[in-house]
Amino acid sequence: MDKVSEIEKLQEEIRYHNHRYYSLDDPEISDAEYDRLFKRLLNLEQQHPELVTPESPTQMVGARPQETFSEVKHRLPMLSLGNSFSDQDIRDFDTRIKRFLGNDSPVEYTVEPKIDGLAVELVYENGALVVASTRGDGFTGENVTRNIKTILTIPLTLTQKKGALPPPDLLEVRGEVYMDLEAFEILNHERVERDLPPFANPRNAAAGSLRQLDPKITARRPLNMFCYGIGMTSELSCNTHHELMTLLQQWGLRVNRPYIHKCNTPTEVIDYCRHLEEIRTQFFFEIDGAVIKVNRLDLQTRLGQKSRSPRWSMAYKFKPTQETTTITRIDVQVGRTGALTPVAHLKPVELSGVIVRRATLHNQEEIDKKDIREGDLVIVQRAGDVIPEVVKAIKPKRTGIEKRFIMPYRCPVCGSDVSKKEGEVVVRCPNPNCPAQVRGSFKHFVSKGAMNIDGLGDKIIAQLIEKRLIEEAADLYSLTLDNLITLDKIKERSATNLLRAIENSKKTTLARFIYALGIRHVGEYVAAILAEHFGDIERLGKATEEELIAIDGIGPQIAESINAYFEDHPNRDHIKRLIQTGIELEAPSPPPASPAAGKTFVITGTLSSMKRSEAKEVITRNGGRMASSVGRNTDYLIAGESPGSNLRKARDLGVTILNEDELLKLFGDDRE
Ligand code: IVH
Repeated sequence: MDKVSEIEKLQEEIRYHNHRYYSLDDPEISDAEYDRLFKRLLNLEQQHPELVTPESPTQMVGARPQETFSEVKHRLPMLSLGNSFSDQDIRDFDTRIKRFLGNDSPVEYTVEPKIDGLAVELVYENGALVVASTRGDGFTGENVTRNIKTILTIPLTLTQKKGALPPPDLLEVRGEVYMDLEAFEILNHERVERDLPPFANPRNAAAGSLRQLDPKITARRPLNMFCYGIGMTSELSCNTHHELMTLLQQWGLRVNRPYIHKCNTPTEVIDYCRHLEEIRTQFFFEIDGAVIKVNRLDLQTRLGQKSRSPRWSMAYKFKPTQETTTITRIDVQVGRTGALTPVAHLKPVELSGVIVRRATLHNQEEIDKKDIREGDLVIVQRAGDVIPEVVKAIKPKRTGIEKRFIMPYRCPVCGSDVSKKEGEVVVRCPNPNCPAQVRGSFKHFVSKGAMNIDGLGDKIIAQLIEKRLIEEAADLYSLTLDNLITLDKIKERSATNLLRAIENSKKTTLARFIYALGIRHVGEYVAAILAEHFGDIERLGKATEEELIAIDGIGPQIAESINAYFEDHPNRDHIKRLIQTGIELEAPSPPPASPAAGKTFVITGTLSSMKRSEAKEVITRNGGRMASSVGRNTDYLIAGESPGSNLRKARDLGVTILNEDELLKLFGDDRE
């Protein structure tokens, strides 16, 4: 293809994707793919500046406003940001700035999270919110004032603190409207229940919610806003971006203050961008990058802007967690509990730095609701440590050869007829001797949180089963060197190491042992509660359902499952055989006499004097328990900076709220 046609084709394609993203809130490609198209066009246009027209997407921002909202002209254009993806891009940015300023002295920057939502401008006149608009094409946006006014954290009037500067008569504030991850999950769940298509991500959910014609619908969607800059203002005495953010906060506007970090060198900028990328999953909202800004406002003015973005700021994009790829095949995996899970095999893609080849499709119901087919082009995502999943199919790209998928009626591993419990979506293989279940149980038994037998991987387990050297977990403890060296790809040295690891695993804790048994619904956390409560395995085995339910943290479903497990004689016999191999179970030491012993704690927000892991360590060492969200059983909420929705829940439920100092006082400041 010649360069002219390629440029035109790319422009056309990007325009189409802009429309899907900005106007329909329903994108067809991942952000990463969009960024690649955009970069390709930028490169080509740089090589052929004569082909750049004012209509090219590289020269414009966003999309024309939808006709259903009235229009608002921005007094100052709302720009976009240039993107950077590497350390070198950041260093080049610093070099460009110094060159432009004609000065080699260090420039102070701020680095802050790039919130993944939609840009909004709020206009305050004499302290009152008069108009709110979306960015639109940068010059004209949609009037969303009525919808914005339903967002509780956006002040209708600015406040003036004693001794602080009053807000200027005219203040245009810019920021990002977004939806918390938890609210997004709930909203999508409700939509799927009501047979509505789920939103691909929190940003589309936020955009779709804000751009509702009926503000009553917006009011029901939990939106929030962080302010990150200003447009036109009357006189304002302030020298830096950092100071400006403090002022906005003093006037009652919400600012992501604890994460606006000052940096003096490009290396510091890179380090803080990395830090934000590392902690990105700890935020209660989605961040897709960091925004780097020149801190001094006078320098910002001197640097000015290019056609669509300012020279004084740049986005640093994190490694994408969503990507577009193709499903080459769908098959079914059988887990240790017999659950059949449909798995999509993908054309390999990189997600947050890891090559992904497979993604879960959860179950038939999900496949049907999302209408995902073999051969589909799809959006996949991987958030933190969770298993990659298929988010949605890109239906306009179908060619007609895509195939619907139906779960098999027989277990693909052992051929047993599968069954499904009334009211459940999961299909299971009922055969406890199914090789997939047996392999899965061994895998679980030796895993890190369970008996932690290093070096006993899937392939060795499969061979040991096949050679009938192991049938149940207890058999692992009678394996010999001779047994092991008969296996494929195992040398004497690794066989010896493996035997030692198996032997070492005999000294373990009661909690690990309970977890290793693989009782359904008994994860590591529940196993620890049970170990602490019962102190030995026999007492746990004799507990009645009532006794179990009475324990804090154990619900009826878990209690029933534990009971069923111990009522089964083969299970009891198996435990006996395991103990006979010489497994020694260390019971948890009685909790120290501390005011926190036996109490449940939740942490929200960012702690300043210690890491979250340190706070958890202090709490558990003192006999307290950690939970991830506030519920009726929570005793204390530890609130740091930028607390999440747990704070509101804690207030509603009357849970005691402590700050970091109070937490440490509770334990007599026992940090080491
Ligand atoms: S500053 C001239 N700061 O990212 C634009 N933008 O890709 C100055 N965004 O349009 C923007 N978080 O909607 C800035 N902390 C932050 C941001 C942020 C999210 C969005 C914003 C902007 C887009 C650019």
